[in-house]
Amino acid sequence: MLSCVAQRRVIEPGQLWPDQHGNHIQAHGGGIVKIKDKYYWYGEERRQGLDSNLRFVSCYSSKDLMNWTFQKDVVQMSDPENLGQGWILERPKVYFQANQNKFVMYFHLDNKNYSYARVGIAISDRADGEFKFLKSFRPLGRPSRDIGQFIDDDGTAYLIFEDRELGFHIVKLSDDLLSVEEEMSLVKAPLEGGAVVHYRGQYYAIGSALTGWSPNPNKFATAKSLKGPWTNFKDFAPPETNTYQSQSTMMIKVTGTKSTTVIFMADQWKPSAQWDSRYLWMPLDIGDGKLRLPKPEPWSINIETGEYKIQKNH
Ligand code: GAL
Repeated sequence: MLSCVAQRRVIEPGQLWPDQHGNHIQAHGGGIVKIKDKYYWYGEERRQGLDSNLRFVSCYSSKDLMNWTFQKDVVQMSDPENLGQGWILERPKVYFQANQNKFVMYFHLDNKNYSYARVGIAISDRADGEFKFLKSFRPLGRPSRDIGQFIDDDGTAYLIFEDRELGFHIVKLSDDLLSVEEEMSLVKAPLEGGAVVHYRGQYYAIGSALTGWSPNPNKFATAKSLKGPWTNFKDFAPPETNTYQSQSTMMIKVTGTKSTTVIFMADQWKPSAQWDSRYLWMPLDIGDGKLRLPKPEPWSINIETGEYKIQKNH
């Protein structure tokens, strides 16, 4: 047993991941944004005993990606648009609008049977402040379910969203981050849990098949530009493992003084015990248009150098 205050020196994929109080991190379907030297992890708060009429988004902070401090639930929202019982708020992603010093949260807003299919926006003046609901819309006028977040090296903010009929879209957000400015790509593949990373001159897009909470072989494609053309989608983990029982949610790039590491962030859902859902984070083997998710093992990262280390024989 780890004590509450013990510093964590490894990330253990698939295990309980305690915060500073020893509670398992509740940031499912999450997103991460880096502000100065701090990472903020937002996600679906699914601890037991929550008011079932409200939806909650948690916020954790960290300087090393291994030790996370629970800040608070930055969203405690009641049904914003008469969606009825069982309404859905999933996959929150926060962007920082530096000129206005605003934090803009996107999330999947839906009714119980997922037919509303919109994105919602909530905003706050602080990373760990209270996010207030602003509006919802359908990006490009299209149904939108799972969303993903991508911020390019030049700071441009993109939203990825799943459109069941067509595939998935990568769109550029407006400067104020409150609307869609331009469609970059419509990738005609039935994928959700979409994520993108920019690594050495190439864009890598990943996503999972549409199998609800059950894991499946996630796939990737690459392109030289966000406008495509994209290669065909291929497996990046042995397909029989169903992505080591996980579903993609994001990729984070850590650029240090010696190396650059791209981390695969995924959820291992437990639909009938969501509070116990786990996270599978692993450094990816990436480069030259190839992508591979190594077998999950405990590992550590050094944020300064950007290097990671797999803990063999733990
Ligand atoms: C998944 C999706 C999750 C959640 C779930 C509901 O496909 O990625 O975010 O919506 O379906 O069944």
